[in-house]
Amino acid sequence: MMMRMAYMIYIPWLLVAQFLLLVPLTTSKVPAIIVFGDSSVDAGNNNVIPTLLKSNFKPYGRNFPGGRATGRFCNGRVPPDFISEAYGLKPLIPAYLDPAYTIADFATGVCFASAGTGYDNATSAVLNVIPMWKELEYYKDYQNKLRAYLGIEKANEILSEALYLLSLGTNDFLLNYYVFPTRRSQFSIEEYQDFLVGLSGNFIRDLYALGARKISLTGVPPLGCLPLERLTNKMGHHGCNEKYNDVSLEFNGKLQNLVRRLNKELRGVTVAFADSYQSIDQMITRPSLYGFEVVGVACCSTGTFEISYLCNEHNPLTCLDANKYVFWDAFHPTEKTNRIVVDHYIDSLLVRFR
Ligand SMILES: *[C@@H]1O[C@H](CO)[C@@H](O)[C@H](O)[C@H]1NC(C)=O
Repeated sequence: MMMRMAYMIYIPWLLVAQFLLLVPLTTSKVPAIIVFGDSSVDAGNNNVIPTLLKSNFKPYGRNFPGGRATGRFCNGRVPPDFISEAYGLKPLIPAYLDPAYTIADFATGVCFASAGTGYDNATSAVLNVIPMWKELEYYKDYQNKLRAYLGIEKANEILSEALYLLSLGTNDFLLNYYVFPTRRSQFSIEEYQDFLVGLSGNFIRDLYALGARKISLTGVPPLGCLPLERLTNKMGHHGCNEKYNDVSLEFNGKLQNLVRRLNKELRGVTVAFADSYQSIDQMITRPSLYGFEVVGVACCSTGTFEISYLCNEHNPLTCLDANKYVFWDAFHPTEKTNRIVVDHYIDSLLVRFR
């Protein structure tokens, strides 16, 4: 109780400090935000590919500007949108495959992410989504279009000054390793983590070779606390699955070591690590600090297993106020959670990448 009181006293000062740090951002030299990864950051690329993993229908997007279901797996915006806004760029990062946008829009921000993907090719194959090597192919295509649009010199300047955001890994564990026997028969969980970290390093080296210099790598959230994983944790009385949380922490630790190695290895690069685990864990363990009332189930429908088409507008149980929930569907945070994750990270991001 004393702990909680102490936190309540300090929180307003944290907010004030964050607000002050946001002030000088108009001087930022980051001209574009370029996003790779999975549903944690997908802005709608899955809308136009033949997969069952989509979210371009209600109630997704109900708190998005205009109430539009863009294909973001959220009631509103996802973290890259908030990061872009904090850099004084546009408040929404468009999906590269969305035909409503052109290279003029993508010049200040573009998203190549695909819900359901992972570092492992076998993960993207589960739901027939875009594998990471293909996200990189789309990025090369984007580079060519940007050079044709702005001229080689201006385009290259944007590509090297841009901030690159990578966010994925969850699906490699929860959609692949723990669901299908193939990877489990080939790798222990420690070996699989190392395999994924190797792929993450290769992806960043490829990006670097293509001109990227400012990179932020996001780790995985507390996987065992996602509502779907609580639902299946019958032995643990539907609490967080601690085994999965331990895997998350271990994997994030290995990613942080990778980040340290890459900063030494690649000349002129800055790679930062974004620890979404710690902020989401804090929201789950101290929800009242943030005005949350529900952490164990999601807002959409019963909040226990509904994702994608199972979370739809014909479900009468969907909550009225998503701001009281940490999770929007059984796998994805609410917009409010996304905003707080970015709030916790943006100061160090703005300091490291200008
Ligand atoms: C993933 O697939 C691509 C395309 O087939 C291939 O080039 C790449 O080597 C594969 N990655 C791994 C780790 O097998």
